[in-house]
Amino acid sequence: MITPYYLIDEKKLLRNLKIIRRVGEVSGAKSMLALKCFATWSVFGLMRQYLDGTTSSGVYEARLGREKFGKEVHAFSVGFSRPDIREVRRYADTVIFNSLSQLKAFYREVRGLKIGVRVNPGFSYSHFDLADPARRYSRLGVRDAGALRKVVGLISGVMFHFNCENDDFDNFARNLDRIGRNYGEVLGRLEWVSLGGGVSFTKDGYPLEQFCDRLKVFGKKFGVQVYLEPGEAAVTGCAELVTTVLDVVHNETDVAIVDASTEAHMLDHLVYHTSAKIASPGPGRCKVMIAGRSCLAGDVFGQYSLKTRLKPGSVVRIADAAGYTMVKKNWFNGLPMPGICVRRLDGTLDTVRSFGYKDYISSLS
Ligand SMILES: Cc1ncc(COP(=O)(O)O)c(C=O)c1O
Repeated sequence: MITPYYLIDEKKLLRNLKIIRRVGEVSGAKSMLALKCFATWSVFGLMRQYLDGTTSSGVYEARLGREKFGKEVHAFSVGFSRPDIREVRRYADTVIFNSLSQLKAFYREVRGLKIGVRVNPGFSYSHFDLADPARRYSRLGVRDAGALRKVVGLISGVMFHFNCENDDFDNFARNLDRIGRNYGEVLGRLEWVSLGGGVSFTKDGYPLEQFCDRLKVFGKKFGVQVYLEPGEAAVTGCAELVTTVLDVVHNETDVAIVDASTEAHMLDHLVYHTSAKIASPGPGRCKVMIAGRSCLAGDVFGQYSLKTRLKPGSVVRIADAAGYTMVKKNWFNGLPMPGICVRRLDGTLDTVRSFGYKDYISSLS
């Protein structure tokens, strides 16, 4: 396979999926894959055996969930238009509105489906203001608990998405208790509650049994079906972006330019000012900056000490390349878009997608 390409390893994916299934078995919580994070449907055959369905942030994701994943489909959007609603009701089992105005405008159109609203509890866990759903002026979810109480008759559930990369179980448990205290009366009148995504429960060392216990107790106490919406937790650590060094230049430090780009292929590192992890070469004493080949001056994956000195032709494997990568990749600079490869459970390497000039021009006009 010609680089660059994303390589998804089903064995590594399976590790996460087994944890998700265990959480379901022990706690009773259902897990819906957040398609905004990962929508590479070539591995849905494996994923659907372990997850209960998908959750979406727009009409196309809802359709993809119905057509390529199956099982249960939750459809949320920060803003539905009337045509969106007429389309999304064909795919969704549950429609979740972001505001009471959207609920009131459209609940009649989705009669027969389960209806919910997103709630902003006013607190959250996030290292990044940009991704903090309870940030000042947040438009994500209903803030007014009194107004929420008045529409309980129109809905069967609520969604709270209040975590972002939260690996602190005690914090999660405390915030879950707060939700119980603040919304207990509403929850007691509903059938389901989604706790959103952003909980790193597939991370090594996460207190899984305690997590399951909390979810189970919460569900029982309020008589609700609990849902989780794992995105990153489902796919963490299961893919690499495989690249080749094209050139090494020197400006105070060695800078290796690879045939991929943060801006086009791993955008979140730019957005959140984070560095990529390198899966290979391993750590050592050769200092190098690894940078992308777009024209953006700050298109930098990070600075590293590696065990081999990079030179043109060296292969660099960038770790953790599944979540929020393939769903966000773009055609900036007209760069060749990384293909998608899957290492199946039996070890076979499947090139499931390659992109070419035709895809580039057809994305423009
Ligand atoms: C409503 C909702 N659910 C689920 C997710 C998935 O979060 P993560 O990929 O961090 O698990 C997000 C992420 O933004 C979200 O906004």
